[in-house]
Amino acid sequence: MLIKKRTGIEIPSSEITPESIYLSRRQFMRGAALSTAAVAASGLLAACGPSDAEPAAGVANIATGSSAEDSVVQTAMPGSVSATTDELGDSLNSFEEITTYNNYYEFSTNKEAVAPLSKGFPTAPWQVEVGGLVNKPKTFGLEELLAFEQEERIYRLRCVEGWSMVIPWVGFPLAKLLNEVEPTSAAQYVRFETVEDKENMPGVNSPLFPWPYVEGLRLDEAMNDLAILSTGLYGKALLPQNGAPIRLVVPWKYGFKSIKSIVKIDLVDTMPQSLWMKAAPNEYGFFATVNPNVDHPRWSQATERRIGEFGRRKTLMFNGYGEQVAYLYDDPDYDTTQSTRGT
Ligand code: MTE
Repeated sequence: MLIKKRTGIEIPSSEITPESIYLSRRQFMRGAALSTAAVAASGLLAACGPSDAEPAAGVANIATGSSAEDSVVQTAMPGSVSATTDELGDSLNSFEEITTYNNYYEFSTNKEAVAPLSKGFPTAPWQVEVGGLVNKPKTFGLEELLAFEQEERIYRLRCVEGWSMVIPWVGFPLAKLLNEVEPTSAAQYVRFETVEDKENMPGVNSPLFPWPYVEGLRLDEAMNDLAILSTGLYGKALLPQNGAPIRLVVPWKYGFKSIKSIVKIDLVDTMPQSLWMKAAPNEYGFFATVNPNVDHPRWSQATERRIGEFGRRKTLMFNGYGEQVAYLYDDPDYDTTQSTRGT
């Protein structure tokens, strides 16, 4: 992975109002860019359904009447990044691709509908409550989350559906936040929860899913430096469709682990039950680590389609991050459907 450290996100708390948070962040992102320039239990749930079933980009969205092109117009322009490829030489996906082709079931199960439906979703003020088995529980305001040193991390995102993108995230290691609350010796797992905003998220009224969206990591996975909390991409604040204002990114696991719009993080002693484990236990497990040798019950994981490309490319073990994460797992055949293997 390419890691470019971006320094000095300092926002005086006196400046913090919902609107100024956004403006301050934009100013920070611009400053940072300048400084680094030198530097359903079955097919019915279609949770993460096979990519063949996905509508093609640009196809009109029946639900909203808008198209992918419309949502491009609605989104902000990208800021700058420090590189145009990842460490394997693969090109970054475009800002438009990353912000108009989204999985965010709280808004819609239609990838092209997420951007228009989430436009204007209120992401400030925002708080993340961190507690459970910790010595120093703390509720972090957005300004405190942005006070962690923000870095650019160019990662591949591999969805369990069989597609992938290369995304220049901005964020900070999850470990830094966890160290601040001091997990006790009893803590073994980290449980994450997305906001459940019935008023502004049309999808959470669907009885098909056990809301809120919940995900989890084993504590040692969470402490791995590759696991980040992201607050931006392409040098700009995250847009709602990508999980604003703060989401998890775990690049060696299938994308559904990278939970969006987090409001609660708990340190716990038992393996958390994720939304997908509850909704389709025969299809989605806890570890969900990218593995070309273990097929999803309904499709092969041997290859993937990089968004923007025509052919398929081979899926990489651990999504190409084995050097950094293989030590975490005893069993190389842990898979997406087994919750207990790989411990
Ligand atoms: N987080 C929440 N809260 N709700 C979701 O539906 N979808 C997941 C993950 N995080 C999802 C979520 C899936 S399946 C994927 S592939 C990624 O978000 C997609 O992230 P992106 O839209 O930023 O590419």
